[in-house]
Amino acid sequence: MPTFFSYPAPELQEELKRTAGAIVAPGKGILAVDEANDGIGKLLANVGLENTENNRRRYRQLLFTSDDSLSDHISAVILFDETVYQKTDDGTPFIEILKKKNIIPGIKVDRDAVPLFLSEDEVTTQGLDDLALRCAEYKKQGCRFAKWRCPLKIADNTPSVQAIKDTAQVLARYASICQSQGLVPIVEPDVLLDGNHDIVRAQKVTEVVLAEVYKALNDHHVFLEGTLLKPNMVTPGQGCPKRNTPEEIAEATVIALRRGVPAAVPGIAFLSGGQSEEEATINLNAINKVQLYTPWTLTFSYGRALQASVWKIWAGKDENVTKAQQELFKRAKANGIASLGQFQSGQMTSAAGDKSNYSQNHRY
Ligand code: 13P
Repeated sequence: MPTFFSYPAPELQEELKRTAGAIVAPGKGILAVDEANDGIGKLLANVGLENTENNRRRYRQLLFTSDDSLSDHISAVILFDETVYQKTDDGTPFIEILKKKNIIPGIKVDRDAVPLFLSEDEVTTQGLDDLALRCAEYKKQGCRFAKWRCPLKIADNTPSVQAIKDTAQVLARYASICQSQGLVPIVEPDVLLDGNHDIVRAQKVTEVVLAEVYKALNDHHVFLEGTLLKPNMVTPGQGCPKRNTPEEIAEATVIALRRGVPAAVPGIAFLSGGQSEEEATINLNAINKVQLYTPWTLTFSYGRALQASVWKIWAGKDENVTKAQQELFKRAKANGIASLGQFQSGQMTSAAGDKSNYSQNHRY
């Protein structure tokens, strides 16, 4: 195999490294609010609101106009396309609000999953064709990183070789295109919680997937120091009768990551995947306490596990905005502390803290 290739220009390497490093600064993590319009529509319906552009804007305005202290624990926010162009009631672009708070704006760029023909209910993820153009536009708007999620399901015969290889190739092409446009790619192979498998199976599948993903990233000459990984934690499937302790989950997760993620990757920010807010915090804390060497920052990039209590308290009403913002701050702080391995169980309780956020075949 010919091995000639060029590295990115030194200035681009520096820029990507600087952005990635700032996103995984100690004690901070990512707020993922990149639900597609259908996804946020269900959450709006739960609080009795119509799925209109303005209601989606009102909810996200609540998050982004939180007190400046949010940035003590949140380094970056993942936006959805529409949100990039939205403004607060007084006409300030959301992106400007975030930048003023020292929060880095990023953008979800995958165009969702579609069936993988002849597979057993598996999917591939769309959006590569015009990705370079879209990345250039988002960069112009002020985004500095991107996210692309590829879900993989564990069942008797899955994930298949077909699905794993497809995921790896798609993520590698995505990462390469992002870097060409100056955006840090967050690479998200999501081995889902759906299924009855035990933690041993989840660990092995995660290891196989990570090995394939990093082989493909290397084949595409992706500059690893300018990337981040957003993986699942290694847990038993939702339907598995044997439940594991946070310490067991943490150990299985760290072992799988050590086996599959190169040391050049600066940080790993977990998805919450349907865990309750409290579980996601406790597991992250346990991960950061495992007595094994880890070369990367281990932090959070949660959607549901940072917002469940916010939705509950807001309930679609303007008079609840300040209280809902306090809930967001609490979860951000709890996870910031957990990313340092210093969280005590019960230290910070939230309105929907122990409610499971799992739903089968969840769509963002
Ligand atoms: P959850 O934390 O809700 O799994 O969301 C993660 C995600 O990928 C959204 O960007």
